[in-house]
Parts: sequence; structure tokens; C-alpha cells
Amino acid sequence: MKTKAAILRARNTAWSVEEIELDPPKAGEVLVKIVASGMCHSDEHLVTGDLAGATPEPPLLGGHEGAGIVMEVGAGVFSLVAGDHVVFGFIPACGRCPSCADGHSNLCDMGSLTATGMQISDGTARHHAADGSDLALGIGSLGTFAHHTVVHEASCIKIEKEIPLDKACLLGCGVVTGWGSAVYAADVQPGDTVAVVGCGGIGSNAIQGAKLAGARVVAAIDPVEFKREKAMEFGATHTHASIDDALAALPDTTWNRGFDKVIMTCGVGNGDVLGQAFWLGGKRSKIVVTNIHSTTEASIAIPAVFLTVFEKQLIGSLFGSANPRKDIPKLLELYTQGLLDLDGLVTKTYPIEGINEGYADMNSGKNIRGVLVYEH
Ligand SMILES: NC(=O)c1ccc[n+]([C@@H]2O[C@H](COP(=O)([O-])OP(=O)(O)OC[C@H]3O[C@@H](n4cnc5c(N)ncnc54)[C@H](O)[C@@H]3O)[C@@H](O)[C@H]2O)c1
Ligand SMILES: [Zn+2]
Ligand SMILES: [Zn+2]
Repeated sequence: MKTKAAILRARNTAWSVEEIELDPPKAGEVLVKIVASGMCHSDEHLVTGDLAGATPEPPLLGGHEGAGIVMEVGAGVFSLVAGDHVVFGFIPACGRCPSCADGHSNLCDMGSLTATGMQISDGTARHHAADGSDLALGIGSLGTFAHHTVVHEASCIKIEKEIPLDKACLLGCGVVTGWGSAVYAADVQPGDTVAVVGCGGIGSNAIQGAKLAGARVVAAIDPVEFKREKAMEFGATHTHASIDDALAALPDTTWNRGFDKVIMTCGVGNGDVLGQAFWLGGKRSKIVVTNIHSTTEASIAIPAVFLTVFEKQLIGSLFGSANPRKDIPKLLELYTQGLLDLDGLVTKTYPIEGINEGYADMNSGKNIRGVLVYEH
């Protein structure tokens, strides 16, 4: 079938909206009509090359934060039928590998099969440009910057049909990643003091997670005033325009002990920024690195002695260290109960033709999340 998609033809160029050819689903795969896709910063890393070596080279079809309706299932797909509503997990969850069996399906072994951007099931392409050439899928073998896609069953999490898909899409990456960075990776406890460095799509959800986990102080750090205003709506108790300002305010926010938890959610990870943020953490603090550092960055500037004498912990977190099959339905329940704000995350919606405007708005600090909503 023919459908519309946003293709990155070369690094540091605009997304090109094109008609593409989509093959039917093969064994283990599903065809999904996508309703909406968030514009996460991680797809911008594909444009700039920050994720070079870990993701396919252009030309590629972008997008990994999507939700839609199953149209057709391939042979051997038993967990889904046509008409089901699904959110895509940007890491698949097979349920059978050691990580999945151990309750860490964010690290599912199938995830490594997505690095080529081909289908998880057999390593070939279902998406083709108008000239017939194969198209790789940027992150997670998903391709959510398209009106339709074919993905592996392991990438689909079935959700209740009452949940609006233009909000549910955010659970495919940003909400779970941010919320889980606070609740699982940082293990925020009632009464903790928490600093969130970078308050975009991911950081806003780290703030929500920290608040719901019972943090006493949630300090939101972002140079953009609009982000700091929104942070207060998501549950921050203090805001600072820079890490320096947050360090100067430590007597006020933490009785000068340093934060119990520090969560790094800047647009692009940077060793110098992480080195500075390291001083925000107090004794036995957990410093969670969720933002993506460039694959070419070879070192980080951290005084390692404090790992010992203050027992500080430096922790990486992928997909919020969560289990999407459990956590996506759970977080949607929290949304339904009014305990998690999804509506406030969506600053602006765009048609697929608005994708370059959407990313320009992200880069200029206008959006918490821009969301592509597709006309069918
Ligand atoms: N680990 C994971 O599983 C995972 C998943 C999704 C996204 N990410 C990564 O998380 C990061 C954030 O993504 P996003 O979609 O929220 O991006 P975003 O662009 O929406 O937000 C980033 C925010 O960081 C702020 N910022 C930039 N430099 C800063 C600094 N020095 N100090 C404080 N704030 C600063 C920006 O003003 C912006 O508000 C990206 O690197 C993204 O690739 C990681
Ligand atoms: Zn993402
Ligand atoms: Zn698995």
C-alpha cells in the first residue's frame, strides 16, 4: 500500500515528506494506522549525528513515539487483532529473553535487532521509497513519522480504546522515560530532594514522577523561562535558570546537604554539564543519566573520589528503567485518574507536513512536546 512518511535523506537536512510503499506484515508483524507521534529529541540526534554508530545511517524514516490502530496482523500474531489500539514501545519487549524474564524489559535483547532499522523478525525492509529502494527505520524499528507502519508484535502494547491516542502516543517514549527515571532509576522516596536538569519532554515527566513518589523538593533547572513555568505546573517546588544558580541555592533547597536524586534530561548530554551537575548530589545521592550523550564523546569530567567518600552513584537509565507492558497501562490509568498530566505536555500539534516546524519549535524552546497528528 502507499502511505505518507517523513524521511531524513541526509544528516543535517530537513525532513522530507514523501509518498512511500509499505509491504504487508510478514509473520510476527502488524500493520498499524498511526494516529499520532510525539517529536522526541532523540530523532533530532539522528539529524545531527549524535547517535552515529548506534542507529541506521540516512536515508531513514524517523519517529519512535507513536500510537495507532491495528489494521492487519501477520501469521503467528496471537496477542493482537485488527481494531486493537496500541502504543509502540521504542524498545520491543519479547517477554522471553533474560532481561524480560528478570523484569527489565526496557533492556530486551530484541532491542539490539533494531539498530539496523530493518524489521526485527527477519532483518529486511517493509518500507520503500518511491523509487523502490529500502528505507531503514530510525529508532526502534518503528517509523512513526508516517501515516502507517509495519512493526513487530513485540513493539506493540495494547491499550484501552477510551484513551485518546494523540495523548497515549507520549507513553511510547517520553512519559515512561521521564517518569521511570525518577520513580525507578532514581528510586525517589517520600521526603527526598530531587533536581531535574533539563525540563523538556523527558524532564517534565521526571518532575511528575518525583512529585507522585513523594519528593519534598523538586528543583527544575532549565535556561528557558517557559520550561520553568511549566515545571511548576508539573509539580516542581523550585526553579533555577542554570546549574550554577541551583548550586548557589543548595542551602535553601537541601539544607546545604545536596540533592538526594539528580536526573539529567538535557537535550544533548554533555560531559562538562554532567561534571557540574555531579556537585548537586549529596551523600549517597543517585545521579541518573537519561539524556543521550554523543556516541563520539569519549570521557566525562567527574571527580571519582566522591563516588567513594560520599558514596555517590552514577546511574544510566534507558526507557525509564521501566517495563512498558506493565507501566504503559498503569500510567494511562494514572492519567485517567487525574494523577498524571498528559494534556499539559502537548504544547502544539502539527500535520506530518509540519514536522520541520515542530523540530524548530523544540530547538527554540517553544514546546514541551510537539505532536504530529495524522489526518486519515
Ligand atoms: N534514556 C532514554 O531512554 C531516552 C529516551 C528519550 C529521550 N532521551 C534523551 O533525553 C534527552 C531529553 O529529551 P527531550 O525530548 O526531553 O528534549 P527537549 O529538547 O524536549 O528538552 C531538553 C531540555 O533541556 C534544556 N537544556 C539544554 N541544555 C541545558 C542545560 N545545560 N541545563 C539545563 N537545561 C538544559 C532545554 O532548554 C530543554 O528544555 C535527549 O538527549 C533525548 O535523546 C533518552
Ligand atoms: Zn524518545
Ligand atoms: Zn526480551
